[in-house]
Amino acid sequence: MTTAIKRIAVLTSGGDAPGMNAAIRAVVRCCAYHKLESVGVFRGLQGLIDGDFKALGPRSVKNIINRGGTFLKSARSQEFRTSEGRHKAYENLKEAKIDALVVIGGDGTFTGASVFNQEFNFPIVGIPGTIDNDINGTDFCIGYDTALNTVVEAIDKIRDTANSHNRLFLVEVMGRDAGDIALNAGIGAGAEEILIPEQNMGKDRLVASLKRSKKSGKTSSIVVVAEGDQIGKNIMGLAEYIRENLNEYEVKVTVLGHIQRGGAPSCFDRVLASRLGVAAVDALLAEKRDVMIGVSNKKIVIVPFSEAIKGDNEIDLDLIRVADITSV
Ligand code: F6P
Repeated sequence: MTTAIKRIAVLTSGGDAPGMNAAIRAVVRCCAYHKLESVGVFRGLQGLIDGDFKALGPRSVKNIINRGGTFLKSARSQEFRTSEGRHKAYENLKEAKIDALVVIGGDGTFTGASVFNQEFNFPIVGIPGTIDNDINGTDFCIGYDTALNTVVEAIDKIRDTANSHNRLFLVEVMGRDAGDIALNAGIGAGAEEILIPEQNMGKDRLVASLKRSKKSGKTSSIVVVAEGDQIGKNIMGLAEYIRENLNEYEVKVTVLGHIQRGGAPSCFDRVLASRLGVAAVDALLAEKRDVMIGVSNKKIVIVPFSEAIKGDNEIDLDLIRVADITSV
C-alpha cells in the first residue's frame, strides 16, 4: 500500500440515488480506519469548481445510513464539461491538499472524472450510483434496488384501482436510455406489457397484444413504460393512440417521476453502498486510478471507467421472455 495519499475527497454527482449517503459514510469511515483525512465536496463536480469543501470525520456521517438523497447534495455541472472549469477544479483540489477523489454517480459523472484523471493525472475512483442501473461492469448500481421497490409498491396500488374500474393504466417509470427499472419492476408488479428503450415494440403490436389479453379474460391492464421508450416517449400521445384503437378499456396515465429517486434505501442498497465505499478507498490506496468499483457475481470488481461507460445499455433477453410468458 502506498502512503502518498493522505487526504481523500468524496462527492455525489448526477441524479441522486437512495444509498448515496451510505456510500459517503463508508468512504469517510474507511478513511478514518486507514488514518486518512476525508473531505466532502458539495454539489458534485460543480463543487470542485466552486471549492465547496468541508472536512468530514466518522461522526459527521452518523445517522445517515438510513437516509435517502445525499447530504453532500448533487448537481449536473455544465461548467465541468469545459477545460476552464476543470482547471479551476484542479487548482481548488491542490489548494485544499486533496490527494485523491471518490466520485459517486452515473455515466455522466464517470465521463467527467475520466477526462479529469487523464488531463491532470489525478487519482479518482468511481462508485456507481444511479437508479437507472445502466453502468457496464457492475451487476448493480446504488439506488436501483430501492427504486424498484418504490415502483413495485406504486404499481401494486395502481393495480387495485385499475382492477376496480376495469381500466388500462400506462405507468411511466424512469430510464431515459435504460429499461432495467421498467423491465424488472414490470415483471415484479405483473404488468401486461413493458416498453423499454432497448426494443421498439411498435404501437400496432402493443394494441394487438392488449386486445388479445382482454379477449383472454383480463379485466384490467398495466403497461409499464420507460421514459426513453421509442413509442412511449410521449406517454399522453401513446394513451391517445390506444384510446383511438382499443375501445375495450378506459385508458389512464400515471407518471411516477421523482418519487422513484427518493426514500430510505433498501437493506440491499445500504450493504452495496457500504461495500463499494470501503472498496473505493482500498483501491485508491492500492494505486488504482481511473476505475470504477463494481460488484459482479457477488464479488467486488475493479473496472476501467472506459469500460463502465462504453456502449449502449444491455438488457437480459431472458427477462423479456419471462415477462412475455408470465403475462399471458
Ligand atoms: O439519474 C437518472 C435519472 O433518474 C433518469 O432516469 C432520468 O431520466 C433523469 O435522471 C432525470 O433527471 P433530472 O432529475 O435531472 O430531471
